[in-house]
Amino acid sequence: MRKVCVITGGGSGMGLATAKIIGKDNYIIIVGRTIKKLEKALEELRAEGIEAEAFACDISDEASVNKLAAHAKEIGTISSVIHAAGMSPHMGEAVTIMEANALGTININEVFYKVMEKGSCIIDVSSMSAYLTPKFIMPKGSYKYSRTNKEIFMKKMMARVNLFPKKVRSGVAYGISKNFVTWYAKTDAAKFGQKGIRVLSISPGSFETPMGEVEKDEVENLIKFCAIKRLGHVEEIANLMAFCASDKAGYLTGVDILCDGGCVASGCNPLKMKQS
Ligand SMILES: NC(=O)c1ccc[n+]([C@@H]2O[C@H](COP(=O)([O-])OP(=O)(O)OC[C@H]3O[C@@H](n4cnc5c(N)ncnc54)[C@H](OP(=O)(O)O)[C@@H]3O)[C@@H](O)[C@H]2O)c1
Repeated sequence: MRKVCVITGGGSGMGLATAKIIGKDNYIIIVGRTIKKLEKALEELRAEGIEAEAFACDISDEASVNKLAAHAKEIGTISSVIHAAGMSPHMGEAVTIMEANALGTININEVFYKVMEKGSCIIDVSSMSAYLTPKFIMPKGSYKYSRTNKEIFMKKMMARVNLFPKKVRSGVAYGISKNFVTWYAKTDAAKFGQKGIRVLSISPGSFETPMGEVEKDEVENLIKFCAIKRLGHVEEIANLMAFCASDKAGYLTGVDILCDGGCVASGCNPLKMKQS
């Protein structure tokens, strides 16, 4: 059986960069909603001699994720899932962002848990926003509904988002959704461990990707506070993801790894954009 790595958001940015590394010894399935983007990414991968295919899937739709997982299992043994798909504040309405980032992560972890085997790993991609968004905003007490009733979970998340003025709701939804991702990966670890599967999250800071470009203005403000005063190169996060997914990181699970050039460590407050 060949080793298969499923990469959501593999059509661009961090997902595609990670595919180029993990694809050296895995068959790659890149996942996204835009076929054209996936086809272009496939060309790049194949030009580097990587065996890969594209699978159209909307991660916020459980039925779509079920089809993806069933297909991946047919292709071979799933060695890792790099769940890099996500939407940033300028990419959509608050509810769409919450559905992609929070509900999408629930769907991926729940569905792939059923088909993955001992020795495999899921990496959920969060963001440094999980740390920079003030704690009082996070509806942490309601995160538990993600495991019992996704409808109630979404209602609770959006009720919190809708307390804020409309113009900041997408940003609030992003911060909450990414904070949830770190909580979810951590609290999934014990259950996954029983099957010998590792699960962890990685929180990137500001990176040179299509998403980084969309969020350019906010990113430029934040970089001033970072210990490393530049954007992260996409390979710098891709190498971290590939390492965490590999057997070399076999004891790593139930954690979030922050890779942000020292931005959170500066204690900056994005609401005030000054040193706190
Ligand atoms: N770049 C940064 O500075 C930065 C900072 C912090 C965190 N992150 C996180 O890092 C991850 C990767 O981002 P990136 O920078 O590589 O951005 P990117 O190039 O925009 O990649 C995100 C990918 O996710 C896919 N996607 C979005 N919604 C989806 C959905 N509902 N179903 C399936 N695929 C979906 C997009 O493809 P389609 O639109 O075709 O579906 C896109 O290819 C994201 O989770 C992001 O939040 C990025």
